[in-house]
Amino acid sequence: PDTRLILGVESSCDETGVALVALPPEGAPRLVSHALHSQIDMHQAYGGVVPELASRDHIRRVVPLTRQVLQEAQCAMADVDVVAYTRGPGLAGALLVGAGVACALATSLGRPMLGVHHLEGHLLSPFLSVDPPEFPFVALLVSGGHTQLMRVDGVGRYELLGETVDDAAGEAFDKSAKLMGLPYPGGPHLSRLAEQGRADAFALPRPMLHSGNLDFSFAGLKTAVRTHLVRLGWLDQPAALADPAHQAALADLAASTQAAIVEVLVKKSLAALKATGLRRVVVAGGVGANRLLREQLNQACVRRGIRVHYPELHLCTDNGAMIALAAAMRLQSGQADLSREPVFDV
Ligand code: KG4
Ligand code: ZN
Repeated sequence: PDTRLILGVESSCDETGVALVALPPEGAPRLVSHALHSQIDMHQAYGGVVPELASRDHIRRVVPLTRQVLQEAQCAMADVDVVAYTRGPGLAGALLVGAGVACALATSLGRPMLGVHHLEGHLLSPFLSVDPPEFPFVALLVSGGHTQLMRVDGVGRYELLGETVDDAAGEAFDKSAKLMGLPYPGGPHLSRLAEQGRADAFALPRPMLHSGNLDFSFAGLKTAVRTHLVRLGWLDQPAALADPAHQAALADLAASTQAAIVEVLVKKSLAALKATGLRRVVVAGGVGANRLLREQLNQACVRRGIRVHYPELHLCTDNGAMIALAAAMRLQSGQADLSREPVFDV
């Protein structure tokens, strides 16, 4: 058998990602080329993702990005053996673009197509890093839409240990940041502002830290941030939020918010490791790019002799590489039904 070439297309939200992954007959899949277009600038004016604009932009970007990855890999479309796409979850119109393009390419080439669960893409993305994990491990999946702890015993062998009962961790970052007048998506902005603040300046709850299970809740944290802003008289006051004299206090609030989210994520991850008896944890999803989270989790794990793995920084947020990789790993483990009709779940 020859090395197979897998094209991956991601379009579930506000990034169009396309990538090529090579799957050799033996050994690990390898990232050949990848290209990404982020719509962040386009959505920033609205303070969040506008689904209709997202879909339309995916349509504009996906074919040029596909050409780009083929060119970088010095491949022709006909060299692609399998076309993988994000089948969900995500914005319906946005997903349709990726699924539609994948379907058209696969059909015209006479090649099979494979729908990939977006979260499986995130979950497996650390396998593209220089320090890939080994099964089994605990996975902390922290994105803008999901916050889950999972036991992962192999490709397709995922057991949900706990998840958020309301907002996701990324959502907590984004919504708190929005209240503080920071641009969308707030996570990275809040995290940057927090570098200049004191994490103990504002009292914020650590929701469900002692709930006795592995679930999370972040909605109350956002409400507490709002309450602090009301007390300061800055809620929905753009001039007050932008006032240079208020930036130190805002940095303190950002630092306190980040510390609360990170503390819960780290402690619950440790609890999941303890509950499963596993000695390895993998962090995936956009919030996995957070520096404080990486620092604190590394520290806690080093002390306990636990290995931590992350995706490469640029593969933490949505991308096509993780979709092509997940498809490759499914194929490799004999778990890909290529005769299936295109699947699509919103
Ligand atoms: O995985 P992702 O790209 O999209 C989803 O599948 O949701 O994650 C995006 C989320 C956003 O909420 C964003 O604010 C957050 O990841 N994020 C961060 C950082 N970078 C991205 N949150 C905190 N600190 C960061 N450095
Ligand atoms: Zn994602």
